[in-house]
Amino acid sequence: MEKIAIIGVGYVGLVTGTCLAELGNHVTCIDLDASKIDALNQGNAPIYEPNLDTHIQKNLEEKRLTFSTDLTTALISHDIIIVCVGTPMDDDGSADMSDYFNGLRSIAEFIKNTRPVSRKIIVNKSTVPVGTGKKAELFLLENGVYLSEFSIVSNPEFLREGSAVHDFFHPDRIIIGGNDTDSVKRVQSIYRSLYRSRNPIMLTSIEAAELTKYAANAFLATKISFINEIANLCDTLNIDVSQVTKGIGADNRIGRYFLHPGPGYGGACFPKDTQALAFIGKENGVELKIVNAAIEINNRQVHIIVEKIRALTGNLAGKHIGLLGLSFKPETDDIRNAPALALIDQLLAEGCTICAYDPVAMPNTQAEIGDRVQYGKDPYHAVSDTNAVVLMTEWNQFRLLDLQKLADSVREKNFVDARNVYEVSSMHEHGFTYRGVGRHSSDGDQTVHLEDIEVSYGGLSDF
Ligand SMILES: NC(=O)c1ccc[n+]([C@@H]2O[C@H](COP(=O)([O-])OP(=O)(O)OC[C@H]3O[C@@H](n4cnc5c(N)ncnc54)[C@H](O)[C@@H]3O)[C@@H](O)[C@H]2O)c1
Repeated sequence: MEKIAIIGVGYVGLVTGTCLAELGNHVTCIDLDASKIDALNQGNAPIYEPNLDTHIQKNLEEKRLTFSTDLTTALISHDIIIVCVGTPMDDDGSADMSDYFNGLRSIAEFIKNTRPVSRKIIVNKSTVPVGTGKKAELFLLENGVYLSEFSIVSNPEFLREGSAVHDFFHPDRIIIGGNDTDSVKRVQSIYRSLYRSRNPIMLTSIEAAELTKYAANAFLATKISFINEIANLCDTLNIDVSQVTKGIGADNRIGRYFLHPGPGYGGACFPKDTQALAFIGKENGVELKIVNAAIEINNRQVHIIVEKIRALTGNLAGKHIGLLGLSFKPETDDIRNAPALALIDQLLAEGCTICAYDPVAMPNTQAEIGDRVQYGKDPYHAVSDTNAVVLMTEWNQFRLLDLQKLADSVREKNFVDARNVYEVSSMHEHGFTYRGVGRHSSDGDQTVHLEDIEVSYGGLSDF
C-alpha cells in the first residue's frame, strides 16, 4: 500500500483521499484552509455527501487518514502527490490555473530544498487543460527541480457529486495517463483493491487523459442540452417529452441517462468544463460548434423557466414565489452554478419576492446570497401564500409532497415543475395549473416563445 498526499481537500480531494484510505493506503490530505482541516480532524466533513462522514471517521480512527495544513511534512514521507485543487473558470472561459501552479510551486520548493532520495510522482486529478502535464514538467524544471526527481501522471476524476463515494468504489473506468512506466504502475497500485473482479483501468498518454475528462463532461452536457431542446419543441407541439425520452433511451446506442429535461445543467464542472473545452478548441483553431451550441442552449434554459412562471402569473412584479430546491442536483449541498440561483437572480430582477426551501443547501445559499430570499422551515412553509411554486431540484423529499397540503398552503395554484417530477394528472386533481418542461398538459398553451428570450451568448465561437 502507498503513502499518498492529497493537495486540495474539496469535493474531489476529500472523497478521493478518504476512499483511498479505505482501500488501505495511508493518506494525508492537505489544504490551505485551517478551519476546514480542524473540522475534518474532528471527523466533520465540510460538505454533504452520502456516506462520506462514516468513511472519514473510520479511517481517522484506524489512522490511515490524516488532515493537515503542513505540506512540507507530508512531502517528506509521501511519494505519490495527488493534486485536487480547484480549476475554476476564468473571465475568458479558460481554466484558471493559479491554484494549480501555486500548489506545484510549493512542491518544487520542497524538492529543491530537501533533494529527496525517492522520486515524487505528481498526479493531476484536477481537471486541467490539455498540455498541462507538459507545462507542469517545464515549470518544475524552471524552478530548480531535476527531471530524475519527479514524474507527472494524469488521473482525471469522474465522480458525480451526490454519489461520489459510491462512484469511487464502482468506477466505470480509471484513466491513467503517463510516460513513465514505473510511475504509472505505482498509481495503478493505489487502486489495486478496486479491480480484483474486473479491471477498469485504461492507460493513455497524458494529453489523451486530459482531453478525455473534458470530452466526457462536454458530451454529457450536450446530451442535457439536446434533450432540453427537444423538450422545448415538445412544449410547442404539445407532446409529452417523457414518452420521447423513453423511446430514444431504450436504444442502447443512446442510453437512458442524461435525458432528463430541466432548467439546464449547473454545478462546479459542466459549465466551466464546456467553456474551457470551447476555449481549448478556439486556442487551437478548431471551432467546437456542438460544445458552443450546448452552452448557448443551457444559458437559455433558466430564462425559459422564468417565461413559464410569467405565463402562469402574468406580470411578475410583486409576485411571491415558493422555490423548492437550491442545490444544482439532489444529494448535495453544492450550489455552484445552480440553476436555482440563476432563477433567483432573474425573479428578483423582475420584482418578485421568494421563499426557498432545500433539505441541505440553505446554509450555503444564505452564505452566498444572504437574505435576498426568505428561507422556509419546510416545503409547505416555503410555498405558503405564494403566487406560484417552482420545483428546481428533484430531491426525493419533493417527490412525496402532500399535494393537498400544498394546494391549501398557496395563494394561487400555479406549479412550475422544472424537473418533471409530478404527474400532470395528479397536479390537475389538486387544482394546480401545471407546467413541466416538455410535458403535455391540457390546461393551456405550453409554448415559450424562444425568439423573445435574449440571452448573452456564452460560447466562444468568435473565430
Ligand atoms: N466537484 C466535482 O464534482 C468534480 C468532479 C470531477 C472533477 N473535478 C475537478 O476536480 C478539481 C477540484 O474540484 P473540487 O470541486 O473538489 O474543488 P473545491 O473548490 O471544492 O476544492 C479545492 C480545494 O483546494 C484547496 N486549495 C487550493 N489551493 C491549494 C493549495 N495550494 N494547497 C492546498 N490546498 C489548496 C482549496 O482550499 C479547496 O479546499 C477541479 O479541477 C474540478 O474541475 C470536480
